[in-house]
Amino acid sequence: MPDFYKIARKVLFSLKPETAHHLTLSGANFAHRLGLLTLLTGKPPASQPVEVMGLTFPNRIGLAAGMDKSGRAVAAFGALGFGHVEIGTITPRAQPGNPQPRLFRLREHQAIINRMGFNNPGMTAVLANLEKSRQGYSGIVGINLGKNFDTPNENAIDDYLSGFRQAYAAADYIAINLSSPNTKGLRDLQAADTTRGLITALQEQRKKLAASHQGKIVPIAIKIAPDLSDQHIADLAQVFNQTHIDAVIATNTTIDRQAVAGHAHADEAGGLSGRPVTDRSTEVIRQLRQNLTADIPIIGVGGIFSAEDAQNKLDAGATLVQIYTGLIYQGPSLIHDILKLN
Ligand SMILES: Cc1cc2nc3c(=O)[nH]c(=O)nc-3n(C[C@H](O)[C@H](O)[C@H](O)COP(=O)(O)O)c2cc1C
Repeated sequence: MPDFYKIARKVLFSLKPETAHHLTLSGANFAHRLGLLTLLTGKPPASQPVEVMGLTFPNRIGLAAGMDKSGRAVAAFGALGFGHVEIGTITPRAQPGNPQPRLFRLREHQAIINRMGFNNPGMTAVLANLEKSRQGYSGIVGINLGKNFDTPNENAIDDYLSGFRQAYAAADYIAINLSSPNTKGLRDLQAADTTRGLITALQEQRKKLAASHQGKIVPIAIKIAPDLSDQHIADLAQVFNQTHIDAVIATNTTIDRQAVAGHAHADEAGGLSGRPVTDRSTEVIRQLRQNLTADIPIIGVGGIFSAEDAQNKLDAGATLVQIYTGLIYQGPSLIHDILKLN
């Protein structure tokens, strides 16, 4: 079958990145509802389920946070072959995000810079979207939480606790995003003692929530940045070991611009994703694996453009992988290529 995405990409790349994003999501949803999506992309190859965080994932590949921020297209992404879809980042209250333009393609580098700033309709609206959009989907749903931009860091914990409470019933796992570069001060929450306090507070709340949710224990994963020193990674790993966190997601986008120096968009503020982060995120996974106890799984994300890139992350110590920028550049055939690894 001809790769329909090669044609679709020509059209999408002729549009402004954010317009292309909305069109892709609506188009995928629409095609899925008509039962056309798998006709266009082909049926995903069969794969082996894998147990992670006490959950059964149908396969090792998931959609990274930020693509389906408002939980509108979960079953459509499932039909493309994703075994898990991480929606969000979601903040307790709706917020518009940063002014546009805030999304830039760096085609020569197979990269994106974004400073979206957690644009999302707020937790209540997202949960309503999710209820509809997950119908017919049998994979795993992760809900990625952030704080509102106008919540001061000293109160950040309240936003995470509020998101956690609200998302608890709907989530298979909850991801705590401490690593977006686009919310002022967010990455400071990665200071080891601050992270420890946050995890402990969430775990305390989880005990109470489990009691009111038929004993359901929702796993907590922490998402970290690629821009951490070796020492900082080791310190965080110690916190993760001591608090028995359920998983670590590595990594978010980078603020480093070395790899794209000289590009017209290189100096745009925001997080850089795609090819330029492939090796760095794999290195962070490797270092985490060396420092984490064997029972803490790593979800590897950052610059996966081929099955080989995914395999490198698995070899470095990840159990699951996620993609975002690679999907935009390569299309859904990338998901199928990775599924064939099994
Ligand atoms: C446009 C865009 C928006 C993103 N939004 C989020 C987000 O809301 N929350 C989050 O945790 N990560 C977000 N990310 C980061 C991705 O989930 C991923 O960690 C990162 O892009 C590296 O993977 P990639 O190279 O495959 O894109 C975003 C990435 C992009 C490109």
